[in-house]
Amino acid sequence: MSVSGRGTLQRAPTILCYQEDTDKSKKSAKIRFIRFICVPFSARKDLSNSKILYTLRGVTKAYNRRTVLNIAALDVRRGEILALVGPSGAGKSTLLRLLNFLEHPTAGTIVLDDFSLNGAPPPLDIRRRVTTVFQHPILLNRSVTENVAFGLQLRGRRDVQAVVRAELARVGLESLAHAPARTLSGGEQQRVALARALAIRPEVLLLDEPTANLDPGNVALIEQIVRTVNREQGVTIVLVTHNVFQARRLAHRTAVMLDGSIIEIGDTETLFTTPADPRTGAFLRGEMVY
Ligand SMILES: Nc1ncnc2c1ncn2[C@@H]1O[C@H](COP(=O)(O)OP(=O)(O)O)[C@@H](O)[C@H]1O
Ligand SMILES: [Mg+2]
Repeated sequence: MSVSGRGTLQRAPTILCYQEDTDKSKKSAKIRFIRFICVPFSARKDLSNSKILYTLRGVTKAYNRRTVLNIAALDVRRGEILALVGPSGAGKSTLLRLLNFLEHPTAGTIVLDDFSLNGAPPPLDIRRRVTTVFQHPILLNRSVTENVAFGLQLRGRRDVQAVVRAELARVGLESLAHAPARTLSGGEQQRVALARALAIRPEVLLLDEPTANLDPGNVALIEQIVRTVNREQGVTIVLVTHNVFQARRLAHRTAVMLDGSIIEIGDTETLFTTPADPRTGAFLRGEMVY
């Protein structure tokens, strides 16, 4: 985090970010204190001219003839953090599954760079550019190390141990490297899932409610990791969250979804301060009944 300190907090009191600190004197990295700091949006990178990574046009998804997703147009910019917020059932997870090619649209086109999905499953090298972390990670019944190593081994990588060590250090789990992954706490398991996802150096990271039900320390740590991989590695991130404050802390742009459609999308701060659609304001203020 490049901007910190009380002065900044006073100048821009509405934008809150967490910053964690690790106790390096102990073996396990623990959050010693959490302080709120602010990132003025002027300090965030300008992505308005960045290349479009995903282009969606006229995308619908129906289950049993019920259309649950209807996206007229959506562009995801390379290198951005795009938050998808909206009430439960709005279609956020469905959209994420389409972006990860886990499912295919009923109609419309999804283009990743210049690769157009025309109904057929995309080739492996396209699918490998994108990875997802779900709210409830499914970990192998093996050690933490083996979980993080899994994707690397599938790719036949030779530097597995070094990458696993680096990723476990990133998420503060070196001391639990040999623990059975499924015995870890919820927050630790989510950090294993994040390390596993990041180990393969994805171009796109899709996060579906990654911090729901986690304690504030783990939320802060995961948010900091998300920010760092976006800033330092340029990973494009689409974040589904029911927590509008998290969207405001993390996302360059935010899209509000309702009944399968995007009702508004734009620069996060603009959306929060001057929403164009009254339903956006109602949702962000917590006034929307659902
Ligand atoms: N596999 C499925 N089969 C049938 N209906 C589904 C399926 N997946 C999602 N839905 C329906 O699609 C709608 C959107 O779901 P979802 O994308 O999970 O919403 P959100 O993530 O915004 O809460 C919901 O009404 C849900 O019941
Ligand atoms: Mg969902």
